[in-house]
Parts: sequence; C-alpha cells; structure tokens
Amino acid sequence: MSLGGKNILLGVTGGIAAYKAANLTRLLVKEGASVKVVMTPAAKQFVTPLTFATLSQNPVLTEFFNPENGEWHSHVKLGEWADAMIVAPATANTIAKMANGIADNLLTTTYLSMRGKVFVAPAMDLDMYAHPTTQRNIKALKADGNIIIDAEKGELASGLNGKGRMAEPETIVKVLADYFTTDKPLQGRTILVSAGPTYEKIDPVRFIGNYSSGKMGFAIAEAAAEAGASVILVSGPVNRETANPNIRRIDVESAQQMFEACTANFANCDAAIMAAAVADYRPASVAGQKIKKGDAAMTITLESTPDIALALGQAKRPGQVLVGFALETENGLANAQEKLKHKNLDFIVLNSASEEGSGFGCDTNRVTIIKNDGQQIDYKMKYKHAVARDIIGQLLPLLNNQQR
Ligand code: CTP
Repeated sequence: MSLGGKNILLGVTGGIAAYKAANLTRLLVKEGASVKVVMTPAAKQFVTPLTFATLSQNPVLTEFFNPENGEWHSHVKLGEWADAMIVAPATANTIAKMANGIADNLLTTTYLSMRGKVFVAPAMDLDMYAHPTTQRNIKALKADGNIIIDAEKGELASGLNGKGRMAEPETIVKVLADYFTTDKPLQGRTILVSAGPTYEKIDPVRFIGNYSSGKMGFAIAEAAAEAGASVILVSGPVNRETANPNIRRIDVESAQQMFEACTANFANCDAAIMAAAVADYRPASVAGQKIKKGDAAMTITLESTPDIALALGQAKRPGQVLVGFALETENGLANAQEKLKHKNLDFIVLNSASEEGSGFGCDTNRVTIIKNDGQQIDYKMKYKHAVARDIIGQLLPLLNNQQR
C-alpha cells in the first residue's frame, strides 16, 4: 500500500471528527503523499490550522485571499494540483453544498474545480445522517462520480450510539491507496460473498445461532474489492463494518433470507464465495409469543434450511466459479471432498473448528484448499486477511480460464 508521489488535497469541515483528520494527515504523509489541507471557517473552531500545517508540512488554506498581503489562493490551481481530494470529516452542511454546487468557501469552490477523484467521508449525528435530505445529497454526490467512504456505527459526540462516525483514518488511507493501485485483476468482475452466522428464530426473543464472527467472509469481501471486484456481501448478524465503496452489503438474519439474497444475485456474478456458517436446521414453527417456562422437558422440532451453496452449484453456468468452505471437527479431508462434489464447487476451503488458532472468532486460520481436479494445497497458519488473499489468488486463474 502506498501513496508515494500522489498529491492529496484534504478538505476539513466543521465537525468534531476534525480531530481525526489530524491523524489522517499524518498517515497520508507517512504513506508518501504530498498533502495540502483546505479548511472551512467552521473547521477552524475544532482544530487550528497550525496543527494541519505542521502535520502536512504545507500552509493551510482557508480563505480565498491571504488577508495580510492579498495573495490569491487559487482553487483552480489546487484542483489541478491534486490527484485526489478527500473531504474528511464531511458535515451534512458541506455535503449539501457539494451536492448542489454551492461554492461559498474555498473548500466547496475547490471541489467544483477538482479534476481528480473526490472522496467524501461523512461524519455527523445519527439522525442527521439518516435524514432523507442527507441521504438524498449523499446519493447525488455518488451519482456525480464521487466515492463515499461510508460512516461507521458507534458512539457519537452527542452521546448517542448509531451510524454517523467518520470512517477511521486507517480505513480512509486504505481506500485512497486502493484507488491508486493499478494492479486490479478483478476489475469488471462481480463477486458474491456470504459471511457470518444465521439466526433461526424460536420465538420473538430467542434464536438458534452459532459462533461465527464473520471475520473470514468480510476479509474475503475486502480482498476481492481491493483486487477491483464489485462485491455483493450477504452477511448474517455480525458486529462488523464495511467501508470499502466497492462492497455492497446486504444484511440478513436467517438462512432463508440469506438464500433469497444469494440466489437473487448469483446470476449477475462471475463468482460466489460461500463463507457463511449457515444453520442447517431451524425451528419448524416460530412461536408468536415468548415461550413460557414449564416443568416438563421441552422439545423443539427442527426442519432443514435451504442449502445455499448447493442451490448455487445447481444454478451455476459455464464460466461462473463457486467456492465453498468446510468447517470440520473430524475427517476433514473426506468430508470436504464430499461437499466439493455434492455442491458442484470449483474448490473448497477446509478449516478446522477444533484446531487452536483456526475457525470461528480467531484472527488467524489454517486452511487447505481442495480443487475439483483433486489438487490439494496446504497453507500455514495466517491472519485471515492473508488467507483471504490466498483464496482470491486461487480464484483468479479459474476466472481467467473461463470465458464470460
Ligand atoms: N452452506 C450453505 N447453506 C447451508 C449450509 C452450508 O451455503 N444451508 C455452505 C457454507 O457456506 C459452506 C459450505 O456450504 O460454504 C459447507 O458448509 P458446512 O456447514 O461445512 O457443511 P454442511 O453442508 O452444512 O454440512 P455439515 O454441517 O453436515 O458438515
């Protein structure tokens, strides 16, 4: 990852997350970028220009003219100089101005003069973020070709908890570096990824679930997006964020919902990677009210859920690639080979649920990839994002071999 030689214009607007923009400046410089900062008048109430001038090693621009000597700060020149502009934090106010072409300060004027790509990292309170006006403006910015680095969920300056926190500076730098990476072997490809557990309702307050954290599936979605793919990520209930603009996320709860989301999208995809830990059974009926405690033992009758990977395997067209996972506690190889065949997969990623450092919740995984031509590759224990890159590495030649 590098931004070496790139000119990045950072636009800071007046929100509390402006303090995070100081760290963002530092990280951009660390990645080798030349950084200039333009601030709105309100931003100066939160962090002083001196902070940004020191961190960026460039004078900060806030006014059209230098009041001391009348020197003209040309927004046109700034727009030409910058390879990309990132507005972080972007308040609802600035987003509204950008979406409507209101050029009443140096930042919004420069935006209109930008030749390079513009990235926008919204930051505001949850209600402002969710407001239809803000959402409409964000949509308009996207439609105009800007890249939105979505706000994250979490604690907000108001004390409330919800969506509106600015994406972390590390995430923003990653998105920018990714944009400038020319090696995008999955450019033009659409990849479906399933991730996380499913919850199967027993009654309004209880469910049957599993310990899947979604880490592996999300790492795969990110690795595919970084390689240039448009990713459709169908996720069960997990506590994870996705800020990569190439990932479209569909949140589901049950196996049935995951089945519907995956089958509805597969036809338009070049490949699908099924990393979700889908419940195999669900209660045959869901109680309408909370089930009351009784003295007698209790039995819940279960019925099968649809097998998503199997359904995609049956629907698979020539040219499409299907990858599955096998999580086993015993007879790993034999079980994985059986699943590979039965579900018509191109390869299967076997991981052990009983090995330390592997499986649910861990940051690491040790996997074996078994291909449908019988080839077997054993990998050593790695971080899940590195495992994800190995999986994408195995997917690439299969996509390239097959005609679209
Ligand atoms: N899978 C799926 N839909 C299901 C069950 C599994 O898409 N209802 C997918 C998983 O995402 C994984 C692969 O099938 O890619 C194998 O999942 P796994 O749970 O290991 O196997 P099962 O087929 O469920 O078999 P078993 O639970 O008996 O091991």
